[in-house]
Order: sequence, then C-alpha cells, then structure tokens
Amino acid sequence: MGGTRASCKPLECFILFLLLLNCVICSKRPHELGQTGSNPTRSKSNQHGWNWNLLMNNTGVVAMHMAVTHHNKVVIFDQTNAGPSQYRLRKCKARGGSRESSCYAHSVEYNIVKNKVRALHLATDTWCSSGSFLSNGTLLQTGGNGSGSKKIRYYKPCQNNGCDWMESKKEMFVRRWYASSLSLPKENSVIVVGGQSAFSYEFVPKTSSKPYDLPFLHRTFERNSKGNNLYPILHLSNNGHLFIFANRDSILFDYKKRKVVKNFPKIPGNGARSYPSTGSSVILPLDYNDNFGKVEVMVCGGAARGSYTAAQRRRYLTGLRSCGRMVITGNRHKWRMENMPGPRIMSDMLVLPTGDILIINGAKRGCAGWGTASDPALEPYLYKPDNGPGKRFQTLKKTKIARLYHSSAVLLPDGRILVAGGNPNNRYIMHGVTHPTELRLQALTPDYMDPQFDDLRPKDVMVIYPRKAHGVENGRIFNVTFGLTNDSGNLSVVAYAPPFTTHSLSMNQRMLRLECLGLESGGGQDRVQASVVAPPSIYVAPPGFYMLTVVNGGVPSRSSWLRIL
Ligand SMILES: *[C@@H]1O[C@H](CO)[C@@H](O)[C@H](O)[C@H]1NC(C)=O
Ligand SMILES: *[C@@H]1O[C@H](CO)[C@@H](O)[C@H](O)[C@H]1NC(C)=O
Ligand SMILES: *[C@@H]1O[C@H](CO)[C@@H](O)[C@H](O)[C@H]1NC(C)=O
Ligand SMILES: *[C@@H]1O[C@H](CO)[C@@H](O)[C@H](O)[C@H]1NC(C)=O
Ligand SMILES: *[C@@H]1O[C@H](CO)[C@@H](O)[C@H](O)[C@H]1NC(C)=O
Ligand SMILES: *[C@@H]1O[C@H](CO)[C@@H](O)[C@H](O)[C@H]1NC(C)=O
Repeated sequence: MGGTRASCKPLECFILFLLLLNCVICSKRPHELGQTGSNPTRSKSNQHGWNWNLLMNNTGVVAMHMAVTHHNKVVIFDQTNAGPSQYRLRKCKARGGSRESSCYAHSVEYNIVKNKVRALHLATDTWCSSGSFLSNGTLLQTGGNGSGSKKIRYYKPCQNNGCDWMESKKEMFVRRWYASSLSLPKENSVIVVGGQSAFSYEFVPKTSSKPYDLPFLHRTFERNSKGNNLYPILHLSNNGHLFIFANRDSILFDYKKRKVVKNFPKIPGNGARSYPSTGSSVILPLDYNDNFGKVEVMVCGGAARGSYTAAQRRRYLTGLRSCGRMVITGNRHKWRMENMPGPRIMSDMLVLPTGDILIINGAKRGCAGWGTASDPALEPYLYKPDNGPGKRFQTLKKTKIARLYHSSAVLLPDGRILVAGGNPNNRYIMHGVTHPTELRLQALTPDYMDPQFDDLRPKDVMVIYPRKAHGVENGRIFNVTFGLTNDSGNLSVVAYAPPFTTHSLSMNQRMLRLECLGLESGGGQDRVQASVVAPPSIYVAPPGFYMLTVVNGGVPSRSSWLRIL
C-alpha cells in the first residue's frame, strides 16, 4: 500500500487495490463507515460557532442583485432610478438616467480579499432584473424597468480592475421586469421567463422571431395580489427539462418542444410562494451515488393569503412557516411538508458544501414590496436534509441587522456567506424611518470554518485538467490535489454552481456530489491527489464555472474554481 493513505480494512484494500490500483475510497457510504471503528466526522455542529462580522459600513449601493464571479469578486447592483446612492462618482456620466442618478454609482464590484468596493457603470435601469452566468463565465444580465426593461447586459469578470458593464445593442422581445433567467445546458445560452405583464419566455441569444407564450403564467396569475407569480422559480432537472414554480403550482417543461411534461400537485397550505408573496427555493444536492438520478426541489416560506392588500393598510400578516420537498424525477410526486422554526418571507436559500441548506434574511410578517413587511427574521436557519423528520432545522445566531426587501446573500469561495442589502424604501433613506436603506456588508462564518477544525480541513485545493485543456468535459476524469494531514475516511468532493441572487431567488444554484475514484499521495509532504469524475451530462451540470470544495469529515476546504466544458 506504499504511498497511499487508506483508512479501509485490509481485505477491502486488497480488492480495491486490484480494481483501482489506488487502495482508497474517498467517500464511504454510511453503512460502511460504521465498520471502521472510530468516526472522526465532526457531527456536533454548534449553532454558537456561527459568527457574524461587519465587513463594511457602506457598500455605497443596495445589494438588490449579487453574484460571485470566478475571479473571486462579487458583482453588486441596485436599480438606477432610486436617486443618489451613497457612492458619489468622481466624474458624472452624462448619458442615461437623470443627472442626479448618473453622478452616483448604482453598481459596485466587491473585492473579497481587499474588502473594498469599486464603482461600476450602468447605462439603463436594472430594477428587479435577472441574471445568469454564461458557460464562459461572463454574467448575462437581462431586463429591468423603463428604458432598461428589454436590455441585455454583459459583465465579463476580470482579474484586475478593468471590467465594467457592457450593454448589448440587441434587445429582448418584451419588457422583462421581475423575470427569472436560467443558464441552459449548451454554450452561452439563457432562457428568460415571465415578468410583469410578460406571460412568456424567450432565449438569449434569440432562437426565434418572437417570444413564446407560457399558459402556466396566465393560470398562476392572481390579479388582486399583484400577481403572486412574478420571479418564477426555475430549476434545471437532470434530463434538461425545466422545473417552473409560480404561486403554488409547478410544472416540468420541455422548452425545446414547448410542451408541459408534468403538472405537479399544488403545494399545500394557504398563501403563495412567489412575488410579492416571496418564498425561496433550492434543489437539494445531486449525488453520484444514485447516478444523479434523483432531483428534489425544496420551497420554503412565503406570504399568507391576502398579505399584499393587508400590507397596503399597514396590517402585516404572519408569513408562512412551512417548507415543502418534492422529488421531481420518477413518477410519484408529492409535497412532503415540514415547518421551519418560525414564519418567514423574502429569505435567501443557499446550499452549503456540507450539503446543508442555509435559510437567511427576510421578515416574519407582510410580503415583498416597499414598506410591506415588518419583524425582520434575524436568525438564520440551518436545514440538514438527511436528518430524520423533526431533527432537520437548527436556529443559528442572530444578527442585529435587518435584511428586508432587496437584500441578498451568496456563498464565498473562502467558505463565508456574504450578506448585503435591504431597502424597503424607494429612495436611499438613511434616517427617520423604521427600516432605513441598509448598506452595511456582513459575513456569516459557519462553525465548520473555525480554525479549531483546521487539522481536518483540506488545504490549497488545486484542480488539474487533462493535458493542456482549460476545463474538463462531462464524464471525464480530472485530478484534484490538496494538503491532507488527517484523513477522516469520509471525504467528499462537491461542485457548486454559484447563483445570481435577487428577490430571494438564487438563479442557477446547484450542488453536485462528485464521484471520487481514489486517493494517492502526490507531490510533497501531506499532499494527496484525488481522481474525480466530472458530472455525466450537460443536464446534470451545464457547462460553466463551479466552485470545487473538498470536504473531510464534515470540514470543507476553501474552494477552487472548476470549469466544466
Ligand atoms: C484527526 O481528527 C480527529 C477529529 O478532529 C481528532 O480526534 C484526531 O486527534 C486527529 N488525529 C490526528 C492524528 O491529528
Ligand atoms: C462602522 O462604523 C462604526 C461606528 O462608526 C465603527 O465603530 C466601526 O469600526 C465601523 N466598522 C467598519 C467595518 O468600518
Ligand atoms: C462569453 O460569451 C458572450 C456571448 O457570446 C460574449 O459576449 C462574451 O464576450 C464571452 N466572454 C468571454 C470571457 O469570452
Ligand atoms: C416601471 O415601474 C413603474 C412603477 O414605478 C411601472 O408603472 C412601469 O410599468 C414600469 N415600466 C416598465 C417598462 O417595466
Ligand atoms: C491524474 O493522475 C493520474 C495518476 O497520477 C494520472 O495517471 C493522470 O494522467 C492524471 N490526470 C490528469 C488529468 O492530470
Ligand atoms: C460524511 O460527511 C458528510 C459531510 O460532508 C456528512 O453529511 C455525512 O453525514 C458524513 N458521513 C458519515 C457517515 O459520517
């Protein structure tokens, strides 16, 4: 076994040795792990170990929209017509918007390492718009309000400070305000769905001469509630079909044939889950153990029936407490419901490298909109999907900062969660209101990032592509090297598609547990090399940049970028 780092039993070793030459399994199934005796997996997750840090007092602009690029910078932008932001530009830009607005930044790029922002320049209004990373890592942003409502903008991330927004001369067919977008399983292509008075979908770049009507959006529209179906939730299933959820309904949609493949049951409970009754959603981690065959959607929170009209009269109804989980693959579909520790609207949901789900931001009462919510939900929840019923939710440490309408959260490559934004006012109002415009930037550091777990933490993760390639193709094997001083016997490699977040949606977010074929020592003291199998298809993992993380005994590394071609 020279040079290998096995934690398996001799007989298994012998068999595996014959099969793989590398006598190690990276990730053991739970039933196998019991046999190894000691289990160094750190299971006692400690809610007090989660720490809040204030990073900046003034980001300058509200983080209505936020996304992490593969250059480890965070693109943040607001609307452009909310008057002066708190970031005055040295030079006013003459064109676009009112003069008042154009002397102020409405977008910034946050440098994670330097903890600084720099101004970016938007030409037209991005209010309540959508975005997706293209397969080449460029952020494609679509729509907004007014003159920006049909616009297509690009943000090509860069290492230095040389990149800025670019607006395309091409436009979308229809105005897309409160629309959602999703990156498709092909090169640099996005679908944009819905929006205020837009009951249709279209592709960027265009593949047709007109937008396509989507009857599902007509059917789920509630006139007296400002729609309750805006910003529809979109997930890509493992066969390339789209899961579309709006209000309380959902379908599986074959966008190539323009056909509804499945009508799922209505999610139980009163109220609704889409804007302005904003809930949130993730797909639970997809796993190589079942050949990525099971796709399970989770939807949490939302607003009570009649919340929008009640909020106009300053009555804030208690939000929904329930979450629903439904497997969208196979042919038996049923929402399995469970309650969060408290009611919640406008929360963000993030999938963590451990496979747990973080539910953060939002309020307990009311709905989305200007001044339509009260009682900030200050305590994040952690949800452990694999625990037994009743043992899945945990309440984490409270923050003092309210994050209401127009706030967002993203997972950073260094393991922290960046939390920003919040503005229930239609201008920048810093004083004299219950919930002022929120420009403070925070990081939430998970317990597992604490230095006390550094002995287990894999270090300096490097992704090695096949010969001179600049990425790896689906189904191909690639290598990952990292420092490992203490092999827990429970090692996993996960790939995470970073989302574009706005209005509680995390567009394109997905987590994949990858198959690890073996571990061998490689290059230097305590350095090991894992052979990892890239996800099998473009439907399981659309081409693009993923955050790759090695998790040893429940302790994740910092992430490196993996490009899937
Ligand atoms: C490995 O990690 C486990 C869990 O943290 C710890 O109990 C054990 O002492 C560590 N072993 C070594 C050799 O560092
Ligand atoms: C934010 O402002 C407070 C009060 O002025 C100050 O004490 C604190 O150091 C500032 N924090 C940062 C991160 O700038
Ligand atoms: C990615 O593709 C888009 C659309 O084709 C293009 O505008 C952009 O420049 C490309 N980005 C890079 C980094 O090549
Ligand atoms: C822009 O916002 C206003 C509300 O302030 C709305 O009435 C109008 O329809 C929106 N315009 C577009 C093009 O979306
Ligand atoms: C991965 O490592 C194995 C074993 O050292 C080697 O044979 C293979 O060529 C490597 N693959 C890549 C993509 O570097
Ligand atoms: C292995 O680690 C993962 C976290 O990466 C954890 O969810 C799982 O429970 C662990 N398995 C066992 C058997 O301890």
